[in-house]
Amino acid sequence: MPTPKTIAIRRLVPSEGAAYRQIRLEALKTAPDAFGSSYEAEAARDLSHFEERVASGCVFGAFDRGRIIGMVGFYQQSGAKQNHKGVLWGMYVAPGYRKSGAGRRLVRAVVSHATDLVDLVTLSVMTENQPAIALYSEMGFRTYGTEPRALKSATGYLDEALMIRDLN
Ligand SMILES: CC(C)(COP(=O)(O)OP(=O)(O)OC[C@H]1O[C@@H](n2cnc3c(N)ncnc32)[C@H](O)[C@@H]1OP(=O)(O)O)[C@@H](O)C(=O)NCCC(=O)NCCS
Repeated sequence: MPTPKTIAIRRLVPSEGAAYRQIRLEALKTAPDAFGSSYEAEAARDLSHFEERVASGCVFGAFDRGRIIGMVGFYQQSGAKQNHKGVLWGMYVAPGYRKSGAGRRLVRAVVSHATDLVDLVTLSVMTENQPAIALYSEMGFRTYGTEPRALKSATGYLDEALMIRDLN
């Protein structure tokens, strides 16, 4: 199914901290085992935290007629020996919009942005998260390792697959 024509992908601007807060908290609430952070930890933060994150970082949103329905983040590592690497984080598409290409378009936005900045992009994803692993694999990422017991949640330990995409 193609992405609905009403969906647009673009980078959030600094004034959109509230939109980032909305989609980030929805992600943490509806997919708690997909992320390293938790709803409880981030819901307690002020709006200024989210505004700062958007202003100082890089967050792309998927919007349906002005309403945010998905997101993905990117940052470049710091330091002369590590700033050739970027990290994709926080990937999420609202349940009603899945399997229609929005996730693919968000990853594409990160790769396009990262190509001018870094030589490679890494990410981590729970080994049980087959939809996300399938999406990243389709977008050129490959698994280079596994971190056993990377996270400990209410349901037990979770292993993370470590993935990389070379950009040059
Ligand atoms: C993972 C996620 C972002 C995928 O978003 P999406 O918009 O549904 O993805 P797309 O529609 O762009 O799918 C692109 C490709 O990914 C793969 N894929 C996506 N969902 C899949 C599923 N449920 N099962 C198998 N493969 C899937 C397929 O290869 C798909 O291509 P196809 O539709 O031609 O078969 C979405 O399921 C999600 O937000 N999940 C909860 C949060 C999460 O797990 N985030 C990842 C944290 S690392």
